[in-house]
Amino acid sequence: MLGCGIVGSAVARILDAHSDEISERVGARLEIRRVAVRNVGKERDVPLSADIFTNDAASVVSDPSIQIVIEVMGGIEPTRTLLIEAMRSGKHVVSANKELIGSLGRELFDEAEANKVEFSFEASVAGGVPIVRPLKESLAGERVERIMGILNGTTNYILTKMAEDGMEFDQALAQAERLGYSELDPTADIEGFDPAAKLSILATIAFNARVVAGDVYREGITHVTQADILNAHSLGYAVKLLAIAESVDGEIAMRVHPAMIPLTHPLASVRDNLNAIFIEGNEVGELMFYGRGAGGSPTAISVIGDVADVARHIVGGGRGVGVIYSQPAKVRPMDSTVSQYYILLEVADKPGVLAKVAQTFADNDVSIKSMLQEGLGKEARLILVTHNAVERNFQALLAELRTLEVVDAIASSMRVQSAED
Ligand code: HSE
Repeated sequence: MLGCGIVGSAVARILDAHSDEISERVGARLEIRRVAVRNVGKERDVPLSADIFTNDAASVVSDPSIQIVIEVMGGIEPTRTLLIEAMRSGKHVVSANKELIGSLGRELFDEAEANKVEFSFEASVAGGVPIVRPLKESLAGERVERIMGILNGTTNYILTKMAEDGMEFDQALAQAERLGYSELDPTADIEGFDPAAKLSILATIAFNARVVAGDVYREGITHVTQADILNAHSLGYAVKLLAIAESVDGEIAMRVHPAMIPLTHPLASVRDNLNAIFIEGNEVGELMFYGRGAGGSPTAISVIGDVADVARHIVGGGRGVGVIYSQPAKVRPMDSTVSQYYILLEVADKPGVLAKVAQTFADNDVSIKSMLQEGLGKEARLILVTHNAVERNFQALLAELRTLEVVDAIASSMRVQSAED
C-alpha cells in the first residue's frame, strides 16, 4: 500500500476486521505486506505491525512478493512513476487518485494493457458509491446517453447549508473544511476541478473515449448567492453543482457548473455532503447511484472491492475489463450546448422596459418561458426563465442586455437543467 492516511488506515482496518468474509469471497486471504509512508515514525491507529512500514516506496513497487499495489497517497508525482514501475514489474494496481487518473489516466490505462495487469480505480469517483464497475460491467450492453452527477461533497454541503440554514457561502465553506469534507486546498472543490476530474473518468468509461479533466467546461459555486437559491426554490428548483456528460451527435459534451434542477428530480433531494450519479441509458432508462462520496471508510470499501476483484482474477484466472477506446473523442464546444437559463435583471419599472428586454431576447433567438417582476420603481427586478437556447446565443444575449439603458444590472444568471429536450 502506498500511503496510509485517512483512506489507507480505513483499508487496513476493514481488511483486518472483515478478513474472513473477504477471503471467502475472494478464495484467498489478503495480506498487507508493506506500506510506504513519508513518516515511518508517525503514530497510527492501524492493525499493522510497525516493521512493514517503510519510506522507500520504490522498494514496495518492486517487491516480488507483492501482487497488488494499492495507491492511496494521492498527487501526480512521484505517484505516476511509482504506479508505472509497479505495472512494469507485473503488479496489478488499485488507485483512488482522481487527480492522476483524470489527467494522465490514458497513460496508465495503456501501461496496464501493455503489461497485462489490471488497473482499477472505483474509489477515484464518488468515494464509496459503486459507479466505475457498474458502468464498465453491469452496463456493458448499454449505450449511455447522459451522466448527470453531484460528484463533490463539499460544494453539495455548502449549497445545502445555504438553502436550508440560510448560511452564507463563506460560513458554509468554513464548516465543510472543519468537517474534513474539502480537499486541502478547497479551490479544487469550490471551483469545480475535483468534480471535473471525476466526470472525465466517468465519461471515459461510459463513452469509450479518451477525455481528460481539461476537456470539461468548468464553473464553480463562488458566485451563487442566497437570492439565487431562494429564487430557484420559488420557481420550483434546487441549486446544485452538476457534472454533466452527454453524447451529442457523435461528440462528447462535458460540463461542471451550478444549475437549477427541478425539485422533483431525484438529484434535487441529494443533500449535505452526499454524492449521486444519475444515468440515462438508451435501453435501461434512468438509474441513480447514491451515497458517501468521501471519507475514509466509504472510500476504503471501494478500494477493497477493487482489490477483491483483482485477487479473484489472480486466484481463478482471467482479467477484469480494461478501459476501452472505440471512439475518437470529439469534445463538443461549450458554446454549442443547449440549456434553459435563469436570469435576474435589475431594471427601472417604467413603460417600455419589458418590451425592450423581450425584443433583445428575441433578437438573440432566446425564447422566454416565464417572467416574474418583483419590486417597484427603481427597485424592480425581472426573474426570467428561458426555453432551451444555445449557449452562444445566451452569452450574446447577456452581452447585449448589459448595454441596454433600461437594464441597471444583470444580478445573476444560471443554467436550468430540466426535462425540456
Ligand atoms: N473533496 C472531495 C469532496 C472529497 O468534497 O467530494 C472526495 O473526492
